Amino acid sequence: MEVIQIEGGHRVAGEVSVEGAKNSALKLMAATIMAPGTTTLTNVPNISDVHVMGKVLKNIGARIDVVNEHELRIDTAGVDSWETPYHLVAQMRASTAVLGPLLSRFGRAIVAMPGGCNIGARSIDMHILGLEALGVEFEVRHGNIHASAPHGLTGATVTLNFASVGATENLMMASVFARGVTTIDNAAREPEIVDLANMLNEMGAKVSGAGSPVIEIEGVSELRPVEHRVVGDRIEAGTFLAVGALTGEPVTVRGFAPLHLGLVLKKYEQMGISIERGTDWCRAWRDRPLVPTDIQTLPFPGFPTDMQAQTMVLLALAKGSCVITENIFENRFMLASELTRMGADISIEGHHAIVHGVDGLSGTQVKSPDLRGGAALVLAGLVSDGITTFSDIHHIDRGYEGFVEKLASLGARIRRAEIPDDQD
Ligand code: UD1
Repeated sequence: MEVIQIEGGHRVAGEVSVEGAKNSALKLMAATIMAPGTTTLTNVPNISDVHVMGKVLKNIGARIDVVNEHELRIDTAGVDSWETPYHLVAQMRASTAVLGPLLSRFGRAIVAMPGGCNIGARSIDMHILGLEALGVEFEVRHGNIHASAPHGLTGATVTLNFASVGATENLMMASVFARGVTTIDNAAREPEIVDLANMLNEMGAKVSGAGSPVIEIEGVSELRPVEHRVVGDRIEAGTFLAVGALTGEPVTVRGFAPLHLGLVLKKYEQMGISIERGTDWCRAWRDRPLVPTDIQTLPFPGFPTDMQAQTMVLLALAKGSCVITENIFENRFMLASELTRMGADISIEGHHAIVHGVDGLSGTQVKSPDLRGGAALVLAGLVSDGITTFSDIHHIDRGYEGFVEKLASLGARIRRAEIPDDQD
């Protein structure tokens, strides 16, 4: 079994660069289906979720040349299937991002029901209701969603019940070739949505309003392949800024827009963390105790659920008590029980975590519960007494490229190791 081992308490400081955003790269890859020919994506993170999306595309007939670690040439001219296999979709919920592009290109799609992180029900009812408004008919057979638009796709106004990232993206992609104008009301505003809209527009689409709650898409007849650079990963950046906040020494993060972390940085300042920022870099350090601060997760520009776990580790060491409210996913407190085993004092009441700060954490054996929870626990290991051993690290590899190496470059005593299974 592969594990990560950390010896806590060593000085961690310096500079790291983040990769392109996982949550953008996956959707940009899916969008290439709509522009037959070769699209080049640069700044693509080399992570396992990207590998899974690559397999999804190859499976329907795309060719992918890996030009270098961070550059993919995706040729979708030969895509001739609209069916995505269960064994891939089941690995990653984001595979459902091919639904919109396949409907756009073929007027039909068969996509397995989503799998991925076990972080809540994560249904796709809003994707389905929105697509139905555009003329798509759905049937669920044997765990697969069969979608077809027998009369073509027609623009409509869709008001989302909740500003869902995935539903906004699927609707944006499905409506690119729809007749007339589609309006997505209460659209998600995440920077990754803006990145996708930018690439679609470079390809010849007419998408306006991305980044605001109302997105308008005027149907066009075709898209052409382009070269596009994936936006920097604000969540990877936030994770490394949390390292500086946690250990106290300055950590500088490059390759992303601090504006994309607006509320996180504001909350961190309220927590007693010093922040310095430029247009594409940010530095975090701390020379006073952590101040307890209530946090509640909300769609962008609110506090991102993807930074909640890392922030819980900081608050677990604050001087006093506070409440974290998780409004996006119902099962994103899974790290709390592992953190408690490391000495934290956290109780969960529904979608609230009541965190009483403790003076220190101690290393032990812990499991990564999910992607961000796993990364957060690694952060906790950096400041824990003794050695922490993490299992189930495949969750971390889904979304962080070279996490161990980057932390080691900052001075952390961290390594990957093989241990016998019975030590788990
Ligand atoms: C994306 C991100 C994820 C991030 C999340 C919120 C990717 C690959 N993942 O996930 O990292 O944490 O945005 O910022 O981009 N929901 C429904 N019905 C739907 C759609 C969503 O009930 O049709 C619910 C989900 O179960 C969840 C909430 O709405 O509770 C938010 O989901 P959504 O914004 O769609 O997140 P994802 O796109 O899955």
